[in-house]
Amino acid sequence: MKALVQEGDGSADVLHVREISRPALAAGRVLVKVRAASVNALDWHSVHGGTMLRIASKVMRSKSEPVRGVDVAGYVEAVGENVTLFKPGDEVFGSAPASFAEYASGREDRLAQKPRNVSFEQAAAVGVAGYTALQGLRDIAGVRSGQRVLVHGAGGGVGTFSVQIAKALGAHVTAVTGENKVDIVRSLGADEVIDYTKEDFTQRPARFDVVFDVAATRSIGSLRRVLLPGGVLVLVGADKRGGVAIFGRILSAIVRSRALRQRVRFFVAHNDQKDLFFLRDLLESGQLTPRIDRTYPLSEGAEAVRYLGTGQARAKVVITI
Ligand SMILES: NC(=O)c1ccc[n+]([C@@H]2O[C@H](COP(=O)([O-])OP(=O)(O)OC[C@H]3O[C@@H](n4cnc5c(N)ncnc54)[C@H](OP(=O)(O)O)[C@@H]3O)[C@@H](O)[C@H]2O)c1
Repeated sequence: MKALVQEGDGSADVLHVREISRPALAAGRVLVKVRAASVNALDWHSVHGGTMLRIASKVMRSKSEPVRGVDVAGYVEAVGENVTLFKPGDEVFGSAPASFAEYASGREDRLAQKPRNVSFEQAAAVGVAGYTALQGLRDIAGVRSGQRVLVHGAGGGVGTFSVQIAKALGAHVTAVTGENKVDIVRSLGADEVIDYTKEDFTQRPARFDVVFDVAATRSIGSLRRVLLPGGVLVLVGADKRGGVAIFGRILSAIVRSRALRQRVRFFVAHNDQKDLFFLRDLLESGQLTPRIDRTYPLSEGAEAVRYLGTGQARAKVVITI
């Protein structure tokens, strides 16, 4: 099969389409004929590499896959022993490692039936961005109906899911984004949209129950300024400068939470089939509509990862196969 294989690291130039073996079918796993796979910041970071990423993968003993991609949508080609939820021909979406390829093998409990009212491209956009927005807002921040939520960095993958999910949870949403994304973010149903190129939102008098920081471009101190007493700041995004900056920000969050007894939370989203079903319900009810900026064929997959890295993508970038 054809796959986008990572050969080295440093930039998206290391990604090349190659012929490799199809993943073997194993018990509890589903072989998916990939129709679409979305690109995440994680793919960009993995391709760019760096010492801290290498140390982190060694510590976590994560296998270095030469094929990137985790979000997927496609048809079930075959199912392994003990798989009961799916059969060949089903349309599915969710997570399967190494999804920038014609076939990917995913665990049964990381996939769900694709809703009929969304395309493969839209379904493939859900995975990481959907989990991050849902788990961060509902579970980490504990967003309740009527609360005021500020999403900083509302125009990218995680940001566009966050605005819609915060609305679905009943919040009043203020979205902060860049100039060329104001329209799309407004169309997602944000109650108020602030353009960060024109205004410093941290100087506004308004205060929020939850500040959901996807952009990671402002200091923790300035973000706390717009929090209500008893509010929570959730650090979602990672600093583009990489390892040391990322760990520095997390450390600062831990110290501040302890020393100042303020709620500053960092979290890492995880796969959870219950949450995937929850997201599917939101898709079916129309409360969540994944927006796609650009799609790229697999042969131009390197360009898709490069484009995501510019920070200019309006919502999600998807590779189609
Ligand atoms: N904690 C977790 O479990 C978790 C999971 C997934 C992703 N993440 C992190 O979340 C972040 C977004 O991921 P993604 O996949 O959504 O990537 P993305 O689509 O490329 O989003 C880029 C983000 O950067 C912001 N940005 C870019 N240029 C900016 C600028 N000049 N000023 C302020 N903000 C700027 C964007 O805000 P605008 O679009 O509004 O300009 C947007 O929020 C990444 O840092 C990623 O590592 C964390």
